[in-house]
Amino acid sequence: MMKKEELIVKDLKEIALETYEMVLENSFVSMTAKPGQFLHLQLDGHMLRRPISIASVDKEKNTVTILFKINGSGTKHLAGYQPGYVLNALGPAGNGFTLDSESSTILLIGGGIGVPPLYHLGKQLLDKQRKIISILGFQSKDYVFYEKEFQELGETHIVTNDGSYGTQGFVTDALKNIGDFDSYYSCGPIPMLRSVSSNLEHKNGYISLEERMGCGVGACFACVIPTDNNGGYRKICKDGPVFHHKEVSL
Ligand code: FES
Repeated sequence: MMKKEELIVKDLKEIALETYEMVLENSFVSMTAKPGQFLHLQLDGHMLRRPISIASVDKEKNTVTILFKINGSGTKHLAGYQPGYVLNALGPAGNGFTLDSESSTILLIGGGIGVPPLYHLGKQLLDKQRKIISILGFQSKDYVFYEKEFQELGETHIVTNDGSYGTQGFVTDALKNIGDFDSYYSCGPIPMLRSVSSNLEHKNGYISLEERMGCGVGACFACVIPTDNNGGYRKICKDGPVFHHKEVSL
């Protein structure tokens, strides 16, 4: 259930170039957020809220962690909020990932700031005794984050576009270096998701779409995406952001 909530900034640090980790305190969100859900944040001086994925929760400390990259004035504002600041947000919003009960080996494929929701998911899958393999793609070495955190979940492959760290190329290049798996979950920019779902067409997979949104509650049509059949559409904020890879047309 999504609610209007106040979250207190507890910690903020830069963990990679232009990339920040923010810990927020709020018991309702920390107790109810599912992997793949997001917070729709109200930022000073901005009419439109910003959707930011939840990267992890700590139910004992009542905290939720978000990661974001500076990509405009809204996120620049966000990076300026110091501990003690109170943020307004709608959340936890969106449907979240469906946990596939049949799969024992799961592949996580994240690109850039699409990586954070996969961490929340990976932690939950590990608690359910699943084997996890991760492929994480970044522009370059300076943008790499959460490598150690994913290594604690299982085998992890880092790919950078310029080859300055890990393997050079795109996340799909790393697919040939991994063993078999039962299903995959992916989050990142649309071109990456398009390439992942066409490379893994015959696999069971779920993709999470990152999209600028308006209302965030299904009322404004700012975030529609066509479905793969019958000419219909889905709203990313309400029907998603997670879809089966065969459900939507990228
Ligand atoms: Fe308004 Fe999705 S953002 S319908």
